[in-house]
Amino acid sequence: MKEKLEQIKAEAIRQINESEALDKLNDVRVSFLGKKGELTAVLKGMKDVAPEDRPKVGQLVNEAREEIERILDEARTNMERKLREAKMKAEVIDVTLPAQRNKVGHRHPNTIALEEVERIFTGMGYEVVEGPEIEKDYYNFEALNIPADHPAKDEQDTFYINSDILLRTQTSGVQVHEMEKGKLPIRMIAPGRVFRSDEVDATHSPSFHQIEGLVIDKNITFADLKGTLAEFARELFGEETKVKFRPHHFPFTEPSAEMDVSCFKCGGSGCRFCKGEGWIEILGCGMVHPNVLKMSNIDPDAYTGFAFGVGLERIALLKYEIDDMRLLYENDIRFLKQF
Ligand code: DAH
Repeated sequence: MKEKLEQIKAEAIRQINESEALDKLNDVRVSFLGKKGELTAVLKGMKDVAPEDRPKVGQLVNEAREEIERILDEARTNMERKLREAKMKAEVIDVTLPAQRNKVGHRHPNTIALEEVERIFTGMGYEVVEGPEIEKDYYNFEALNIPADHPAKDEQDTFYINSDILLRTQTSGVQVHEMEKGKLPIRMIAPGRVFRSDEVDATHSPSFHQIEGLVIDKNITFADLKGTLAEFARELFGEETKVKFRPHHFPFTEPSAEMDVSCFKCGGSGCRFCKGEGWIEILGCGMVHPNVLKMSNIDPDAYTGFAFGVGLERIALLKYEIDDMRLLYENDIRFLKQF
C-alpha cells in the first residue's frame, strides 16, 4: 500500500511539473484528489484492508494528499507569479514617449481685439459694463432721440419680439441704462452683441458686436473726445496713427462725427488696404445730445459728455487683415489659430 501511494505521489508530481497552464494544474488536482481521483479510489478500497491496518493506511493517504496539495499550491503560486511578471513586462509604460496633446481651443480674433480695447480704456479709467441684448424699443431708439417716425429706425431694422421689445440694433442703449442709474460722472465702455436684419455677406452679418463708449461729467468738450479717441487709435494701431473727424449725423449726438485713422499699412499714402484713400473709417462719435441727457434726468446745463460706437468685427478684421467677415463666424480652428 505504501508503495502504491508513493507511486501515485510520484506520478502526481511528474504531471504537476509538466503542467504549463493553470487549467492543466487543475486537471491534475481533479484526477488525483477529486471525487473520482486516484487517492479517493485508494480510500474507497479501505474495505479490503485489515481493520487494524486501516488507521495507518488512512494516515498515509492523508499525508500523500497533503503533500500533493502543497506541491499543487506551490506550482500554482509560481505559475501565477510568472504570468503576472510577463503581463507587467508586456504592459510597460514608455515614459519617454511624447504625451498626447490635449486639443485646446484658441481665443477668437474678436475676443483678442476686445481685450485690447478694454485694456486701453480701463487704462484710462473707464469701467466695462454690459447691457441686455433683448431690449426695449425705448432704450434702443426712443431715449436716444430716435422717435418712432425717425428714418434712422429704417436703417437699423431688427428682429422684434413684439412691438415694444426687440433685439438691440446698437449698444448705444447701454448709455441710457448707465445714465438712469443716476451716478455721475460716468466713464464707461459697453461691449456686446447687436442684431440687424441684414443679409450675410463679406461685410455684413445679422449679428455682430459693438463697443459703446460714454463719458459724462462737468466741462466735457469735443477736445476731450478728440484727445481720447486719438489716443485710443494710437494705442490700437500704432504710435504713428493720425485721426481725422468728418462731420456726420447721429440722432443722439450733436455735433456728431465719424473718425478715420490713417492707414497703418501705407501710413496714409494710399494702398490696396485703404482702397487708395490713405484713411480708414473706424467709428462714430459725438457730443451727447441735450435731449438724451434730459430724458435720463441729467441736467444738460450742468453736465456734458461724449459718446462713441465702434464695430468690434471691424477692428478685428482691420488688425488681422482678414478680408471676409464670414470667416469670423465659421469658427474653424485652423483659421482661428492664426491670430
Ligand atoms: N450706434 C451707432 C451705430 O450703430 C454708433 C455710434 C455713433 C455710437 C455715434 C455712438 C455715437 O455712441 O456717439 O451706428
